[in-house]
Amino acid sequence: MDITTNAAGHLTIGGCDALALAQEFDTPAYIYDVAAIRQQIRAFAAVFEQRQVPYEVSYASKAFATVAMYQVAAQEHCHVDVVSGGELYTALKANFPAANISFHGNNKSEAELKAALAAGVGTIIVDNFYELDLLQGLLKATPEKQQNILLRLTPGISAHTHAYDQTGQTDSKFGFDLESGQAEQAAKLALAAPQLNLLGIHAHIGSQIFEVAGFQAAATKLLSVLKAWHQEFGFTPQVLNLGGGFGIRYTDGDDPLPAADFVDAILATLQETALPFAQPAIWIEPGRSIVGPAGYQLYRVGSRKDVPGLRPYVAVDGGMGDNIRPALYQAHYTAVKAATPQAPALETVHLVGKYCESGDILIDEAPLPATQPGDVIAVLATGAYGYSMASNYNRNPRPAVVFAENGQAKLVVRRETDADLVQNDLSYL
Ligand code: LLP
Repeated sequence: MDITTNAAGHLTIGGCDALALAQEFDTPAYIYDVAAIRQQIRAFAAVFEQRQVPYEVSYASKAFATVAMYQVAAQEHCHVDVVSGGELYTALKANFPAANISFHGNNKSEAELKAALAAGVGTIIVDNFYELDLLQGLLKATPEKQQNILLRLTPGISAHTHAYDQTGQTDSKFGFDLESGQAEQAAKLALAAPQLNLLGIHAHIGSQIFEVAGFQAAATKLLSVLKAWHQEFGFTPQVLNLGGGFGIRYTDGDDPLPAADFVDAILATLQETALPFAQPAIWIEPGRSIVGPAGYQLYRVGSRKDVPGLRPYVAVDGGMGDNIRPALYQAHYTAVKAATPQAPALETVHLVGKYCESGDILIDEAPLPATQPGDVIAVLATGAYGYSMASNYNRNPRPAVVFAENGQAKLVVRRETDADLVQNDLSYL
């Protein structure tokens, strides 16, 4: 795993000493290397520029959605996709331009759709017939308005990844089914709807994908759908949205293609296909690959349990409440000691959290140098689906989030307090 260190040999994040960050902001804490976020967004954009393919990089903000993150995405001229009224609200709070927001979801509520229309979101990615109806009904309130939409399709392609992370196969809750003709029916309805402007189609085949073949197969299939609709309905697509899902490295055992190379390989396939219409813009929706590698979680070591003949348990001051992924997906991570991140491992421990549950294991086999209570441990590549999936389980306050860039650190989400935990509780007496 790539890490950077300073003259003292300490781990650095965004040019800041990780021990100093732990001191200043306390632990547990999520620290982001903001330059790494910017670099990844720019790397995606560069691939499209190089191949001269019209594009949009739309950050899938479910991976990490805070005001500060939407601000960085806006600075980088990146679009974002949101999947709830809450993400939309956060983006708007950050003054993110509504025209650059796409709204996703398989069960958007009437209130959420109304909020999206009122804000003027650029694109609504329509998932099902219910939504197609609901949206048209809501648009009647503003007869002059045209709403850009994409239709989400299930292309019948399953990517090789964890079962919960697969979304493109036919038996899925997302999107219009292609094989049964539902997608075609939806296209007919959308094209006939006076207030809907159908830009094109969308598919997302899964997450943490390492093989480019699934994307290439999906892209080829979607192009054939667009060609069929062109022939059948005279439809000229402006957008082909291929979703996100580009895998990242969590441990040295992972060896994904760099995410931008992934996109380059997909574009190569697309460019081989002759089209009866102008090249539609290609949109991608990477979440994990933009923020995952840029995030670090800092914890402090507390108790330790040694049983002769068994692997020791080293406990830190956070756990499944701030990173549910190991418990939920059996996800693997890498931990280093912030003071000596390059020191050889002395022992392999269970790195566990403080939650009252045996499954609260952050890393089942963590090779580490000797650790003492108070030592700062950094878990790497935790920037995606960590804070965004955090909970208050066991009534633990959610940690702080800090952005580090050019040696400067800024608190962007304050640590919750015990008072925050009861702020919505009402007395029964
Ligand atoms: N677009 C759509 C429509 C999606 O559903 C997703 C992720 C993305 C884009 C972004 O995918 P990414 O580039 O981040 O892989 N909580 C799980 C991941 C769930 C992903 C859901 N959809 C995890 O922690 O692994």
